[in-house]
Amino acid sequence: MERIFPDPEMLSSAALEHELLAAAPEHRRSNRPWVSFNFIASIDGAATVDGRSGQLGNPWDLRVFSLLRQTADVILVGAQTVRAEGYGGELLGAEAQAWRSDNWLDPHPPLAIVSGSLNLDPGLEVFTQAPVRPLVLTLAGAPQERREALSQVSDVVNVGEASLDVDRLVDELAGRGYRNIHSEGGPTLLGSFAAAGRVDELNLTVSPLLVGGDAGRIAHGSHGEGEAARSMELARVLKADSMLFLRYVRPAQ
Ligand SMILES: NC(=O)c1ccc[n+]([C@@H]2O[C@H](COP(=O)([O-])OP(=O)(O)OC[C@H]3O[C@@H](n4cnc5c(N)ncnc54)[C@H](OP(=O)(O)O)[C@@H]3O)[C@@H](O)[C@H]2O)c1
Repeated sequence: MERIFPDPEMLSSAALEHELLAAAPEHRRSNRPWVSFNFIASIDGAATVDGRSGQLGNPWDLRVFSLLRQTADVILVGAQTVRAEGYGGELLGAEAQAWRSDNWLDPHPPLAIVSGSLNLDPGLEVFTQAPVRPLVLTLAGAPQERREALSQVSDVVNVGEASLDVDRLVDELAGRGYRNIHSEGGPTLLGSFAAAGRVDELNLTVSPLLVGGDAGRIAHGSHGEGEAARSMELARVLKADSMLFLRYVRPAQ
């Protein structure tokens, strides 16, 4: 792995680990909860191949994905990502959990799943095998029967009335002490956070593939007419073989 920007340098495995696990300066300076997203896309912008992201990645990407997840206070995902990607219960290996304990973090962060419909099977491994009770973030009008079923295996919390209130979601997580909010998508969730101006950091792996077809981008959702696109600043570029790992942060205000 090579760092291209800033300060070009070849990175050993230990140096990569150090780089990705160290709290970023922007994060340390922020006086509000920090929301980061991690995505992978092909060079022609596809966020999936055959409906999942797995074929876009390789062992380098898996390593970066795991390290970025390792420092999270909470891992946030949209329900469709859970349904499509098949999340398991334990999201960190033994070594990562030991590292967290050594660094004054709970050994395992909880998973927080955003779902308006609550169309999630309480028998899924994300619930039954979770080392920490998951959160399900939903809307006030979600079906009562599903709410009751999911309450057996998770904390079900309203974060909006008719539609998702991103600020309320972030406040809810921060109120539980989760200030380092790490999201692994998907595109609908990123679209909502982008529209609300709550994306502090976006890590994007550019996979050297031309996918073609009609796969979606890493963000989608409503974009109001006249709504400004938001600028982000490039904070880091890593490279392994032909794969790029870009880190963008929200400019300081
Ligand atoms: N390339 C990558 O890095 C990457 C990363 C993650 C996912 N993916 C891919 O993305 C695809 C899924 O895309 P997606 O956009 O549907 O994923 P998503 O954002 O994970 O899930 C969408 C679902 O999450 C809930 N949700 C998210 N935002 C919401 C909002 N603002 N209001 C209410 N509910 C909200 C809803 O759940 P309910 O339907 O339960 O109401 C919604 O249907 C999958 O194919 C997955 O493999 C790719």
